[in-house]
Amino acid sequence: MTSEAPEDKNIARLKQQAAEYAVRFIRPGMTVGLGTGSTASHAVGLIARLYGEGELRGIVLFATSVGVWEEAARLGLPMLEEDLPREIDITIDGADEVDPQLNLIKGGGGALLREKIAAQASRREIIIVDESKMSPRLGTHCAVPLEVLPFGWRSQARYLSTLGGEVSLRRLASGREFRTDQGNLVLDCRFGPLADMEQLARKLELRAGIMEHGLFINLAHDVVVAGKEGVKHFKRQ
Ligand code: A5P
Repeated sequence: MTSEAPEDKNIARLKQQAAEYAVRFIRPGMTVGLGTGSTASHAVGLIARLYGEGELRGIVLFATSVGVWEEAARLGLPMLEEDLPREIDITIDGADEVDPQLNLIKGGGGALLREKIAAQASRREIIIVDESKMSPRLGTHCAVPLEVLPFGWRSQARYLSTLGGEVSLRRLASGREFRTDQGNLVLDCRFGPLADMEQLARKLELRAGIMEHGLFINLAHDVVVAGKEGVKHFKRQ
């Protein structure tokens, strides 16, 4: 068994604290969206524990990836079907980078398309992160992930280069290309700090073959940040 490095343990504790804070907003009977990734996974575990203790009677859950659906179902949570038969009251999800206006880069786990569908169908999108995710400007720390159709994907890569991006096809550790739950590819596109993320988002949205991009602009209502100084709760103005 490998032991967890001390730094990793600290980060895991912060993720757990952010998840604990956010889960308190869930009430019995709510429809709850479950994000994908290691931070959101803490929330899934907590929700399952509370549900098992009878605290959250009547909740139903909507998963943003096949992996999370399986994890939540295994923990005994009642899951909604993929066609999303109702609006979501609260979604709790993670993020890769968060700017001071609570815009996000998401998609490190490759679930950006389903996560954006859930975010847009949610009355309240609560993002939980550790403080390392905070950034003065999106693009400073992370590449922007894009889900692209395999058909003609190299054309999208060339187009992204013309926009100034440094593009790489996401691969698994085995070297095989990563595939999303929809069977699409992911291009990670490093632009550096984004001077105009809205303009970039519009260009990406107009391009056929780009199924979705990882810029989440004006979608988070709340961001819960856990750090050395405690948990901070930011609300979109
Ligand atoms: C999944 O596609 C992503 O959007 C995740 O929410 C994001 O990568 C954060 O993941 P971690 O919580 O594992 O850092």
